[in-house]
Amino acid sequence: MSSTHREVILGIGGGIAAYKSADLLRRLQDQGFKITVVPTPASLNFVGAATWEALSGRPVTTQVWERVDEVRHVNLASLADFFIIAPATADLIARLAMGRADDLLTNLVLASNVPKMLVPAMHPAMWSNPATVENVETLRSRGFLVVEPEVGRLTGSDVGKGRFPDTQTIISKFLDFSTRREDLKDKNIVVTAGGTREAIDPVRYIGNRSSGKQGVAVARAAQARGANVTLIAANIPAAQTQGLNVINVESADEVSQALDSYFDECDILVMAAAIADARPATRNGQKIKKKFFTTIELVNNPDLLAGLAAKKKGQVLIGFAAETSDLLASAHAKLVAKDLDLIYVNDVSEGAIFGADETEGTIILKNGTQIEVTKKSKDTLANLLLDYALEQLG
Ligand code: CTP
Repeated sequence: MSSTHREVILGIGGGIAAYKSADLLRRLQDQGFKITVVPTPASLNFVGAATWEALSGRPVTTQVWERVDEVRHVNLASLADFFIIAPATADLIARLAMGRADDLLTNLVLASNVPKMLVPAMHPAMWSNPATVENVETLRSRGFLVVEPEVGRLTGSDVGKGRFPDTQTIISKFLDFSTRREDLKDKNIVVTAGGTREAIDPVRYIGNRSSGKQGVAVARAAQARGANVTLIAANIPAAQTQGLNVINVESADEVSQALDSYFDECDILVMAAAIADARPATRNGQKIKKKFFTTIELVNNPDLLAGLAAKKKGQVLIGFAAETSDLLASAHAKLVAKDLDLIYVNDVSEGAIFGADETEGTIILKNGTQIEVTKKSKDTLANLLLDYALEQLG
């Protein structure tokens, strides 16, 4: 990584939009970025290495077999602060999703863990092909920012979604992307995730189907953006939360106790955990024999969010609502009742969303604004929620 945080690898895929990246390179340089261009061999059919060398003022190679003495795939990778791959073709996206390393660019991507942005451009049928859709999702789940192509006229006579955005749009997304990773620096973020278990006896409990994936995605995204994150994890396997600062809990009461310790100091609370609304009135010390196991008397758990809302001092509160009917009205009522800044609601009829890597639903802001979220990875939603939370923090 460079000391100035301005070293960018501009990867060029083999699509006709490659010629537009010549202008992109110039405009990135205008912004003070230092650019090394790494074209795929196929892309040289559209724009030759001489063009990239002249514009970037740096040598250009496409294979690991050139300038072997420089070990370019390792040296370049360690120098870069960001990657922008534009255009990213269907084939290049597929190779990246598979973790292939069959040219210099794909080697570099594998050898570097800095943030990477892809700007796809291809025929609409290729973009909407299930293979590409799956590859894009895979890359998004690994943290790549994949820009949505624009709708418009393509190289041939057809029109559709697949166009390379104009340079200014790409530049503004890239500027946002390249500054974003530190945008939560020094913020304390508490995330609850998973589903609570309310003990009936030493063997049995009342639980729910929350997997914890969305909450963990928020915790990881916040950590990647520089925040100090505390994850209060209700019954989530340790493998899922590795690398995070985790407080493991089981019941609603334990979530409540953990929140008591961390809420006052936090800037943003993301309450993704499914908290059981009730617990058995008594916890039997002994396993209940089946002939006595007929009814369970329940008592309500307190509403944790509502309790915290009453004592908040500037914290941004984000809630979730999993509904099966009257989605928007129920979620809006919760937003108001719990005095939240934002609520994300999704339809969980027939168990949809639980355990999945993707989500769809609606974000409702405090002022009533609704933002529809069409099928997205939970990681993408996590970043979106953090964007809004940051906006509310001011
Ligand atoms: N929540 C909470 N304390 C509870 C129950 C829920 O803090 N005892 C939080 C959840 O973490 C979530 C939000 O409130 O962020 C909405 O949870 P949900 O279960 O959908 O709402 P409830 O208020 O329990 O309403 P209902 O079960 O009647 O739909």
